[in-house]
Amino acid sequence: MALDPMLDQITLRQPDDWHVHLRDGAMLQAVVGSTARVFRRAIVMPNLRPPITTVEAAEAYRKRILSALPDGIPFTPLMTAYLTEDFASDVLERGYREDVFTAAKFYPAHATTNSAAGVSDLRAINGLLETMERIGMPLLVHGEETDSDVDIFDREAFFIERHLVPLMNRYPHLRVVMEHITTQEAVQFVETGGANLAATITPHHLHINRNAMFSGGFRSDFYCLPVAKRERHRLALRRAVTGGQPCFFLGTDSAPHSRAAKESACGCAGIFNAPHALESYAEVFEQEGVLDRLEAFASEYGPAFYGLPLNNTSITLIRRAQVVPAIFEGQIDAGSFEYLVPFHAGEMLGWTVSLDQ
Ligand code: NCD
Ligand code: ZN
Repeated sequence: MALDPMLDQITLRQPDDWHVHLRDGAMLQAVVGSTARVFRRAIVMPNLRPPITTVEAAEAYRKRILSALPDGIPFTPLMTAYLTEDFASDVLERGYREDVFTAAKFYPAHATTNSAAGVSDLRAINGLLETMERIGMPLLVHGEETDSDVDIFDREAFFIERHLVPLMNRYPHLRVVMEHITTQEAVQFVETGGANLAATITPHHLHINRNAMFSGGFRSDFYCLPVAKRERHRLALRRAVTGGQPCFFLGTDSAPHSRAAKESACGCAGIFNAPHALESYAEVFEQEGVLDRLEAFASEYGPAFYGLPLNNTSITLIRRAQVVPAIFEGQIDAGSFEYLVPFHAGEMLGWTVSLDQ
């Protein structure tokens, strides 16, 4: 990583996004370029309708992603399987061995967007977990308790105690990524959890606490799952990403929903942060005085955990302030656009990704 003496630009190994929702169809067309222009690879979430539950579906989705890419952008989508209670172990193993599935995603049923087909009872997927442990395939966990008696702000901490601790005891060699962690409890759990456990952390959970959703009215643009928590949790997450521990790495959880879907009476969970994700993380590292640690978090710890090579391309961030547009216009085709509210809409960010690499 080259830090300019005046610190007015940073060149870093090109990062990867270890958790992103690229969607499908028109939305895929509108958003994929925002991720691919900055990130060299991304772990693509499988919560489509219908979800990605076969090797063939993942291959076909990968092709759709590649053909939606703007011309000339090198980008590798890393596909994930959506675990269901009747997913067959041999299918999962075949998909992994054939390099179609990089990992498998565990959604507790009804925990979040398009998770109805998820797992209601962890015991029902024992065979799958045994297989994954044996072949070294990472399990990506949406870590929230779905019992409606549990307060929404406590769901992550409950999930760890009730489900993740027993699961990791049953499968001590299973490689687990707790996705988009939001609490001090999760930070502590992951940093003491040993070499088989890691976590992704989003830009939005580093910038906002739960007040953002209620500032001067109800602001659904800041609603995502797991929901943002109290300030002390945000501070714990900032300490985690800036502390230089390899168990925490970049995963944006960029989750686009149309404005109509966000602003309805039952608005969808998800924050669309792909257009300025790297700048958003850079802001945090700079505020914490550790810009020199951005590269390892963004570009090294993720591949190390997944056992993948580091990228040998680079990207430059320039210290040039930019105002994030109030509306993101994602081009679908010649004459049509998907309009989305991006994270940081209307705010000033201090860094800008250089487009002439
Ligand atoms: C995600 C989505 O919209 O697909 N939403 C979100 O709030 N993060 C699903 C998820 O990752 O939970
Ligand atoms: Zn997600």
